Amino acid sequence: MLGDADFQYLRNFVLEHCGIALGEHKHQLVQGRLLRRLRALGLSNFTSYCELLRRDPYSELGELASAISTNVTAFFREVHHYDLLVDELLPRWLHEKRREGDRLRIWSAGCSTGEEPYALAMVLAEAIEQSGSKLDAKILATDLSPQALETARKGVYPLERLAGISAERCRRWMLRGEGEYDGLACVHPRLRELVTIEPLNLLHPWPMRGPFDAIFCRNVVIYFDQPTKQRLFRRYAELLPTGGYLFLGHSESLHGVNDEFELIGRTVHRKIGG
Ligand SMILES: C[S@@+](CC[C@H](N)C(=O)[O-])C[C@H]1O[C@@H](n2cnc3c(N)ncnc32)[C@H](O)[C@@H]1O
Repeated sequence: MLGDADFQYLRNFVLEHCGIALGEHKHQLVQGRLLRRLRALGLSNFTSYCELLRRDPYSELGELASAISTNVTAFFREVHHYDLLVDELLPRWLHEKRREGDRLRIWSAGCSTGEEPYALAMVLAEAIEQSGSKLDAKILATDLSPQALETARKGVYPLERLAGISAERCRRWMLRGEGEYDGLACVHPRLRELVTIEPLNLLHPWPMRGPFDAIFCRNVVIYFDQPTKQRLFRRYAELLPTGGYLFLGHSESLHGVNDEFELIGRTVHRKIGG
């Protein structure tokens, strides 16, 4: 059983290290979600788990965060964002970045198991191919969950996970497995080439300096408290040029959190000059 003192310790720990604000009512949920983790570590009680976190806060952080938050994602989730990319942003970027080696950078921050960055890679690869561009394009995909990143790196998905991908794109970009890989599909090597997958806690220092043309941080900050969101969006603004784009999830907003962006579409924000 998760005692009250251990629960309070865990609440403070995840707020400090993951920015996740757990309400008092999450006691049962945290207990349920962490029991499996205790078993995996061979620990008999939550007090030992809290001791482990006290001794070495960083090594368990990713596992803890993925146990209490959700990794739910999908290919082409919130498809209006991809429509905007295909219809407007990619043609404009490819027109503006015409010289060989011009850089296009997109960051999928909180990429979970990889469906988001690989879907971005599909539309990016198609636009590059159509335009014949010699652009230096890359998608950075980061997350703090070790299991999610492992799946993203493998890039292998059960066929039912491909539901959001059109039949034409499936044929083009997802390679169907046979024999022991029957029922699975893996992403085309061209998509892997475009996507770089790295572990990163968004609350920690970031090694990259940008600039990015667009940052996708969708369905990540739902659990973050207000000061954590404010800090995070300020840091995103630093890595985006004026006119750079920030895409948020369907229930997320910058309202009352950050005024460096203008809302230009459904959960799409553009950095304003200043
Ligand atoms: C619900 S998934 C969203 C995935 C994808 N962006 C989408 O919208 O489909 C949220 C992801 O954010 C990650 N995450 C949560 N807190 C994080 C943090 N502090 N640093 C990095 N990633 C974090 C979780 O591990 C999880 O994979």
